[in-house]
Amino acid sequence: MIYFNCAATAFQRPPCVAEAVLQAMSGFGNSSRGSAEAELDAARGIYGARAAIAELFHFPHPERVVFTANVTEALNIALFGLLSPGDHVVATDWDHNSVLRPLYFLEKQGVRVEFLGADLRGDLNFDEAEEKITDGTRVVVCTHASNLTGNLLDVRKMSELAHRHGALLILDAAQTAGSIPLSMPELGADVLCFTGHKGLMGPQGTGGLLVGEGVEIRPFLYGGTGVQSYLETQPEEYPVRLEAGTLNGHGIAGLSAAVGFLKSTGIDRIHRREMALMRGFLDRVREIPGVRVYGNFAGDRAAIVTLNVGDLPSAEVSDYLFAEYGIATRAGAHCAPRMHRALGTEKTGAVRFSFGYFNTEEELDTAAEALRRMAGA
Ligand code: ALA
Repeated sequence: MIYFNCAATAFQRPPCVAEAVLQAMSGFGNSSRGSAEAELDAARGIYGARAAIAELFHFPHPERVVFTANVTEALNIALFGLLSPGDHVVATDWDHNSVLRPLYFLEKQGVRVEFLGADLRGDLNFDEAEEKITDGTRVVVCTHASNLTGNLLDVRKMSELAHRHGALLILDAAQTAGSIPLSMPELGADVLCFTGHKGLMGPQGTGGLLVGEGVEIRPFLYGGTGVQSYLETQPEEYPVRLEAGTLNGHGIAGLSAAVGFLKSTGIDRIHRREMALMRGFLDRVREIPGVRVYGNFAGDRAAIVTLNVGDLPSAEVSDYLFAEYGIATRAGAHCAPRMHRALGTEKTGAVRFSFGYFNTEEELDTAAEALRRMAGA
């Protein structure tokens, strides 16, 4: 199989990830639920993962790295824990349903929700951001890169604007964590939400949020933490304020190993490699008659090329690519309904090719040839 669906999950992972999961499954007890060697091993492993993630994002507070099952849970924790009826939140057309659905729900509870629109190239307009983000805004939430177009947001500009008005910036780094060098302080994010199984190359079922200093998020789940058991409320301190119940220690061990791989390889190098693959594919396909590519390719971006072939439904193209060539892509709506509406691809959907560190140029050639045949060129 040629796996060009890396924006959905890494699929090809360094072998150290599965090895670490296996080792944790036979060695880890339950962190903070006992003091036998197995429990201490789990506690050390999980703390090591917090420290590794904190360092990866240049964040000085490992104890404020909270683990979740995925980025959707992290975003829900941040949105539900920061917003109350009467608050104003600004989001964007780039956002995934992991942000949109919580916001549509919160809107019904009395939160005022506004969106920044995207144009036909998928770009956001900062003039509109200047108008909509005001002194009454509590939260600005934005994704670092659109999971549909791969366009990259100027997060620094957005956080400066949010902070000028006293708002907090929640950054959804689902498509960039691990793939693009990312410093939380430099970007000015107050909360950074990540998933473990895409660019970070860890196991599915891992993710989390980094909660900036001074940011107070209400608990989302209530339950056991292994500490302060006589308290009737969830403990105040992070990470247990936002972590109730047994963590996915086995998955977190795999994530920790994956972060080790990223550090030794260098995220800069990974990003350069993924950009070369993305541009190589773009160069091979953009001039094929009938192929229409979406997004802005002028600057830095995520390793995504999304396209349509003539008027063909995207699912037909994607199915054909897999059936005839073993090429995995993602068609349809990508859980990004506002972005599809902005691009005018609501009816056909679009075929997304997303690349990862382990893909090869030969695979690009195969996919480009398949598209050429399909387009009849
Ligand atoms: N959100 C992931 C994607 O874009 C799963 O495919």
